[in-house]
Amino acid sequence: MTDVALRPALADAVERLAAAGVESARWDAEQLVAHVLGVARTSLPVVPNLDAAQYDALQALVARRASREPLQHIVGSVGFRYIELAVGPGVFVPRPETESVAGRAVEEARRAGTPKPVVVDLCSGSGAIALAVAHEVPNAEVHAVEIDPDALEWLRRNASARRRAGDSTVTLHHADVSHAVPELDGTVDVVVSNPPYVAEHEMAHVEPEVADHDPRLALVAGRDGLDVIAEVERTAKRLLRNGGVVVVEHSDRQGESVPALFDSAGGWAGVQDHPDLAGRPRYTVATKMVL
Ligand SMILES: C[S@@+](CC[C@H](N)C(=O)[O-])C[C@H]1O[C@@H](n2cnc3c(N)ncnc32)[C@H](O)[C@@H]1O
Repeated sequence: MTDVALRPALADAVERLAAAGVESARWDAEQLVAHVLGVARTSLPVVPNLDAAQYDALQALVARRASREPLQHIVGSVGFRYIELAVGPGVFVPRPETESVAGRAVEEARRAGTPKPVVVDLCSGSGAIALAVAHEVPNAEVHAVEIDPDALEWLRRNASARRRAGDSTVTLHHADVSHAVPELDGTVDVVVSNPPYVAEHEMAHVEPEVADHDPRLALVAGRDGLDVIAEVERTAKRLLRNGGVVVVEHSDRQGESVPALFDSAGGWAGVQDHPDLAGRPRYTVATKMVL
């Protein structure tokens, strides 16, 4: 087989993905072509052809994506703020909306007013938030807590890669949120978390990429989706020093229930909800009351 012109091959991939119900068909097709060619997506306009092997590889990847395997599993990584993370089966794929949550944790760590702020990321998954904080606040002491051994393997791999890239070390803890890192009680400046927050009944409505590929433990948190957030609230109160700050992500339907959970638990000042970049309710911030 001879070379194949890139434009029609790309158009065909877009059509196949759109027909399979992939919402971002053009973006995903371009990412797959770029992955096969080993170039950045922005370089595609200057590439005229695919050779036969590249064309065959593209067909195989398009078939996987059309079966609704997540794009990030196929290419093996995802960009998160200023870093790249390895992802695949067994770990939750970090989402763009969590970048705002991590950004707020970075800001809070920088204004903690201590030379070595202590930051704990509860429910760390691939390590997205913990590793972003370690990258952007190089003087921070960062801890990442994760219960799932499979996710922890990805976290370990990402943490090693970031250490090799020169970021400061993130300490990993295989633990349940509810009894995580007691040795840090009362000493932490920032607790941040993107915990599971999908209600059991909502699972019927999630996309196949999520339902079939993100671990259930990363998604579901009881009947109202608040079970793990309630544990994060209790653990944050135990870990934080007086005046320390918690930043916790929630679904866009929990912009009132999560602040209410903090208010009714008590011990928190300035409980406030914040939107993500798309303007949807996304995370609650609260300060541990100075006693
Ligand atoms: C929604 S994912 C978020 C992962 C990562 N923070 C991110 O933003 O990409 C939630 C993570 O919490 C972990 N998890 C669930 N319940 C937990 C618990 N009780 N203690 C610790 N980790 C838990 C899951 O295994 C999963 O990795």
